[in-house]
Formats: sequence, C-alpha cells, structure tokens
Amino acid sequence: MTKTYPKVTIIGAGNVGATTAELLLLRNLADVVLIDVAEGIARGKALDLMHMRSYEHFGPSVIGTGDYQDTAGSDLVIITAGVPRKPGMTREDLIDINAGIVRAVLEAALPASPEACYLFVTNPLDVLTNMAIDLVDVPTNRLIGMGGVLDTARFIYAIAQETGADPTEIEALVVGAHGEAMVPLPSLSTVRGEPLLEVVDAEALDRIIQATVQGGAAVVQLLETGSAFYAPASSIALMVEAILGDTGALLSSCARLKGEYGISDISLCVPAHLGRVGIQSIEELPISPAELQQLQDSAASVKAQLENIKH
Ligand SMILES: NC(=O)c1ccc[n+]([C@@H]2O[C@H](COP(=O)([O-])OP(=O)(O)OC[C@H]3O[C@@H](n4cnc5c(N)ncnc54)[C@H](O)[C@@H]3O)[C@@H](O)[C@H]2O)c1
Repeated sequence: MTKTYPKVTIIGAGNVGATTAELLLLRNLADVVLIDVAEGIARGKALDLMHMRSYEHFGPSVIGTGDYQDTAGSDLVIITAGVPRKPGMTREDLIDINAGIVRAVLEAALPASPEACYLFVTNPLDVLTNMAIDLVDVPTNRLIGMGGVLDTARFIYAIAQETGADPTEIEALVVGAHGEAMVPLPSLSTVRGEPLLEVVDAEALDRIIQATVQGGAAVVQLLETGSAFYAPASSIALMVEAILGDTGALLSSCARLKGEYGISDISLCVPAHLGRVGIQSIEELPISPAELQQLQDSAASVKAQLENIKH
C-alpha cells in the first residue's frame, strides 16, 4: 500500500524555502508544494529534488507551482516569501517590502487551506507574525513564527565554541524578538548538566551572547548577497517535525501571549509546546528578573514596530 504523507506548502522557493523542502523530503516528513511568484524557480527546484529521489529514496514527493489551487488542503503552510537582508541591513529594514509580500501570499493561501497551521519565517519575523494575526480570522494557536529556534541554534554553537562541549551536551534557549532584541537565557542553560553560569566567566559569557545576537549578521556579511539558510531550514524542520508529529516538543516559537511573562496581546518567541494544533501551550520557565525585564523590553520593541506598519 502506498504510504500517505501530510501536505506542506512552502511559499517562497528561494534559499530558505528550497532547503527546507529538501530537509522535509529527506526526513520523510511531508509531501511538499513549493510555490513562488517566480514559478520557474519553484518548478525547477522541485524537479531537481525529484531527480535526487532516485538516489536518496525518500518516500514523499514535491511539486513546484505558481498556482495556489495546487496548495489546497495543506496541513501546514510555511511562509518564506520575501526579500532577505544585505550587509549593513537589520531585519527591521525589510519591513516595507516584506509586509506587502506576506499579506499577499497569506490572502492567497488561506482560502485554499483554511484549516492549516501557518509558520511564518519572512523577516522581520515577529512583526510580520503579529501583522498576520491582526489580518486574518484564524485561531492564534495556528499562527506561529520561527525565530527563537534559530537563535537557540546559534547560542548552542557559541557555547560549544567557547567550552569545547559537543552541541548534544548543551541545553540552551533564546527567547524574545528575532533580532537585536533577542534574549538568550544563560540562567537556564547547562553544559554537560552544569549551569552555564558556573562553567564560563563573565567575559566568555559576553562573547557567547555577542556571537549569538550577531550570528545572522555575520553570515550576511560573509555571503554579501543574501542571508543564512542552512540553519534556518534546519530550525524550520525541527518545528515541522513537532507540529506534524504532534510531539508536544518544547521549542522557542513566536506565539501569541495572553499574560504569560507579564506580556499580553503580542506574539513573541517563547518556549511553547508544538503539535497538530500548532501552539499547544506556552511554558512559563523560571527566568531571572533581568531576563524577564529584557523579554518585556523585547515585546515593547515589537509592539512599537507593529504600530509603525499600521500607520
Ligand atoms: N525567521 C528566521 O529566522 C529567518 C531566517 C532566515 C531567513 N529569513 C527570512 O526569510 C525570507 C527568505 O529568505 P531567503 O534567503 O530564502 O530569500 P530568497 O531571496 O532566496 O528567496 C525568497 C523567495 O521569495 C520569493 N517571493 C518573493 N515575493 C513572493 C511572492 N509574492 N509570492 C511568492 N514568492 C515570492 C522570491 O521569488 C524568492 O524565490 C527573508 O525575508 C529572510 O529575511 C528568516
């Protein structure tokens, strides 16, 4: 009997979208529809991925298209359409162009997949996830953003570089806005079971935090023509695995807060359990008072940016 797979649409077949498609296929997670305003790119990459199947022997398949009819009935829609930053730009500099793109693709995708979860990736991530929530009549648990998982990957890497530990021996978490206002949580991080704050001194911790916050900009600086996509795609795949597998995994996700951490009516990256319903619940971890203050400041910065795009 032919195995059936969940259906995932990826809007934007650029670096992040196509690399995500590759990972979802290689991990046998979902049939994928790649859709792009540049239809040839979506179709060409899908064909290339299907050629790869001859040797990689993954089960699901992928199609490329420019037609939203082909996305109908998706379980999950991932939005990566938009412009990436160039050297010297912040994620916030992308707001004007990417807000219009996200609005347009969401309005096109929603009628075809009204029951889907929507995972936002386009930057500035938190602002656009909040804009989407204001725009559409979909329960907020199904409107999720990816940012904190990627920031956490960079935090783990920086801790590994500084301590010599393997990433598998490190527990760490980054919350807050996916940008300069992100909030790494050293107080909850451990290396080989030891508290991070007892393993590294203040100077090393400062270097770790800097490398985490500037990790994305460092990639942009080196690439010159675009931004990171391997670690972002891996971060998306981790969230997709949790959502489609209904695992309840606890991942830093851009989720709508309703009083948790003293923050309301705004979506921000916080530890959340993910499953088929999208956000199952938000976990209020015992972060330090200074970290809590940073998280609340981060929420205020997203709120201020959101006000700007409304006017
Ligand atoms: N949230 C995160 O952690 C994170 C990480 C990496 C990148 N990003 C963001 O993801 C976005 C994509 O990055 P990328 O490196 O893949 O860029 P890219 O330029 O390689 O790909 C973007 C794709 O979107 C397509 N597109 C543009 N307008 C569209 C529309 N209206 N409909 C359908 N497709 C459209 C383009 O044709 C292009 O193929 C950027 O905004 C980037 O900043 C976010």
